[in-house]
Amino acid sequence: MFSRYKKSGATTATPAAKAPPAGAAPKPTAVQRKSAPKVPARTAPEDKERKRKERLADIKVELHKRLLENLNLSALEHASESELRSEIQSISAEALEEMSVVLNKEERTGLNQDLFDEVMGLGPLEPLLKDDGVNDILVNGPQQIFVERDGKLELSNITFKDEKHLLRIIDKIVSAVGRRVDESNPYVDARLADGSRFNAMVPPIAVDGSLVSIRKFKKEKLAIDDLVKFGAFTEEMAAYLQAAVACRLNVIVSGGTGSGKTTTLNALSSFIDDDERILTIEDTAELQLQQTHVGRMESRPANVEGKGAVSQRDCLRNALRMRPDRIIVGETRGEEVIDMLQAMNTGHDGSMTTIHANSARDGVSRLENMIAMAGIEMPLKAVRSQISSAVNLIVQASRLQDGSRRMVSITEITGMEGEVISMQEVFRYERLGLGEGGKIIGRFNATGVRSHYSERFRQWGYDLPATIFEPIAAE
Ligand SMILES: Nc1ncnc2c1ncn2[C@@H]1O[C@H](COP(=O)(O)OP(=O)(O)OP(=O)(O)O)[C@@H](O)[C@H]1O
Ligand SMILES: [Mg+2]
Repeated sequence: MFSRYKKSGATTATPAAKAPPAGAAPKPTAVQRKSAPKVPARTAPEDKERKRKERLADIKVELHKRLLENLNLSALEHASESELRSEIQSISAEALEEMSVVLNKEERTGLNQDLFDEVMGLGPLEPLLKDDGVNDILVNGPQQIFVERDGKLELSNITFKDEKHLLRIIDKIVSAVGRRVDESNPYVDARLADGSRFNAMVPPIAVDGSLVSIRKFKKEKLAIDDLVKFGAFTEEMAAYLQAAVACRLNVIVSGGTGSGKTTTLNALSSFIDDDERILTIEDTAELQLQQTHVGRMESRPANVEGKGAVSQRDCLRNALRMRPDRIIVGETRGEEVIDMLQAMNTGHDGSMTTIHANSARDGVSRLENMIAMAGIEMPLKAVRSQISSAVNLIVQASRLQDGSRRMVSITEITGMEGEVISMQEVFRYERLGLGEGGKIIGRFNATGVRSHYSERFRQWGYDLPATIFEPIAAE
């Protein structure tokens, strides 16, 4: 069969699978050998299912090898998806016939889809990437893939054939963005074509096989209304946050890993006026701001020769020369902290970032530690005074045990008392008990304090009703 997607002169048959010379006994291929079990079919159903899966996996490997041998990959760049699918289908049908493998329709369809994913996509990860219900994909070696659905981690039934297969997919991802991962560079960050955040670590540092973590990119970012609907915070809290962002308070979103920091930051940014110039700086560009005037920057690690690194700090310093109204740093985790605080203190108020911390107080300690680790020699009191004048608000995000993500506290920084930064919590999430299926029962409540920024809100035209700050009495 002629095809412009086939390499010229290539046939689907590998030498081993070519018709044997007349008289010679046909030599079984590896696949045939596997497909003819030596043990009589007296296996338990799950054993049978496992064997079937193994057999299909072997067939897939063989077919994939043949596809790569036969497909003209450079011609494929211009092929449409349907052309490619029919090409794969015909090559695999020919190969299956040559291998004398008979599959039912369902198996054939599944196999062709898997082959398509192997050639064009990321193999077994492809269905998980397409599944909108999946937020995170966590691979612990070839045989174990966990996914996060509705805030809960669960083991998927998807596996890689072996470590080699997993490594091939990792390599495909990182080489597409000009990086390399191997024994001497055992870990890497990258961004998938769809914007998802990707991190991989390979053996020997990863002990039981490569570790991969993917944070899926959501085209439709959760907006303030969605977050209110999902119970992440209340409408009253949203009104307060709107005033805070619009009145250019400097906000830090604090939280644990995967607690919803970036999502919250993104949603908060919607309160920024459309005529402001915003610059965003991230290690992996995740934020999707709705405003028109946005400049996005993404830091870059060193290349294989150890050159060309551009850190978040470099971006931030450069950003200060780019006349921003506001600066948003995706996550402050190192030396850039000092420039971030300075920016917040010097005319770029209304800037925002996230930090990894478990409470507002803890967040402040994290900032102090980051400053110390950046090698800035400043007395602690001076460091604290810098923080207290730079940061106005700490919003604490948390993923609770039942998988729900909530804004568990909104805390204002009000100044210094002696050597200590003074803070006041304005809203908090109160846990009341456990419901059916381990669901946490709780409610958001105001603490009853008057906002330190009430006067500023009023001056800027945000007259928040006093009732927002009134606590609901305990039942
Ligand atoms: N309130 C929410 N309700 C439901 N899903 C949410 C909520 N907040 C965030 N998510 C989802 O949870 C996942 C993690 O969120 P996000 O990326 O914002 O976390 P993060 O704290 O920034 O994580 P990391 O520490 O890895 O950067 C995302 O897939 C996001 O869509
Ligand atoms: Mg994040």
